[in-house]
Amino acid sequence: VDSLTAQLIDVHELASKLYHHILVNTAAGERALDYLTKRGLSKDIIDQFSIGYAPPQRLMYQFLHDKNMDDDLLRQTGLFLEWQDGHLYDRFVDRVMFPIKNGSGKVIAFSGRLLSTENTDQPKYLNSPETKIFNKRKVLFNFDIARKAARRDGKLVLFEGFMDVIAAYRADVTNGIASMGTSLTEEQISTIERVTSSIDVCYDGDSAGQNATNRAISVISEQAPKLEIEIVSMPAGIDPDEYLQKYGAEKFKDWLSSARQTPVSFGLKYLRHDLNLDNEADQINYLNDAIKLIATVSSEMEQDIYVNQLVAEFNLDKTAITGQLRELTRQRV
Ligand code: CTP
Ligand code: MN
Ligand code: MN
Ligand code: MN
Ligand code: MN
Repeated sequence: VDSLTAQLIDVHELASKLYHHILVNTAAGERALDYLTKRGLSKDIIDQFSIGYAPPQRLMYQFLHDKNMDDDLLRQTGLFLEWQDGHLYDRFVDRVMFPIKNGSGKVIAFSGRLLSTENTDQPKYLNSPETKIFNKRKVLFNFDIARKAARRDGKLVLFEGFMDVIAAYRADVTNGIASMGTSLTEEQISTIERVTSSIDVCYDGDSAGQNATNRAISVISEQAPKLEIEIVSMPAGIDPDEYLQKYGAEKFKDWLSSARQTPVSFGLKYLRHDLNLDNEADQINYLNDAIKLIATVSSEMEQDIYVNQLVAEFNLDKTAITGQLRELTRQRV
């Protein structure tokens, strides 16, 4: 590790301690602490994830300046904005601060959440900009913890948001990770592949979550065909954090272990999400796409399961489908 990297990490570790201190020990942090408590976060969880608060009074610059950190270094942390005259001032204001850690558990960036998203045009989550130590395409939230849990559990669970990873942790599911509000990248898939051969994808139960799931399945199977994927679909309209909040930890764990689907089974549902299957043209399109998808499955037994589902639902002649399937499978080989 070169010395600039080490110094940037030092600044982030210090900053994280100040944000955390403000949240848990000061009057300025009370509103944010209330907010987190209402969202079900205990003192232990707040400590575990080193969650903090950036108050409206911009305190960080003075704090680090007083610790003899010079402007040249601070400018490169991404924690500050700059006036035209070169003066630095805090980027994060009135936000709950989630430290983003590297694989060794060192703070390398922050994501700050608004306490309220009403009457504002500010983004709900504001991430640190890219810096020498923070590349958002590479980072996975909670990876330092999850990689160890993955050794025990044999897999990782990919969530959409930080609060979903934290919710899972509250239910003793510690192998959860999340990307930084972007779709899954090549770099992240490589990182995942290095520590496990199996991943559950558990995104939000809305259309954005379904689109993201479909995208994740295709990039993973393209780039890491040996990585085993299972899909956990949330009930319509809620995300894992909301599920935990509503039904509690036991039900949450039951859901994670029982609401599982193969990627193809998910795909067969996804293919029809914007079709009207009472319409014959849509039905024919769907069946053609469905058979193409089934043809990508290598196990004949698994293929047979999906074929039987189609035959039953659409009252079809099975030999017609299997004929078409053979044709596609032959083309592939
Ligand atoms: N995100 C973002 N900027 C936004 C909205 C979302 O960066 N304006 C990212 C965040 O990383 C967030 C993820 O996308 O965690 C998923 O978005 P969403 O489901 O809207 O947020 P939640 O994770 O559910 O956040 P919360 O529960 O705090 O509302
Ligand atoms: Mn603490
Ligand atoms: Mn979402
Ligand atoms: Mn969500
Ligand atoms: Mn949420």
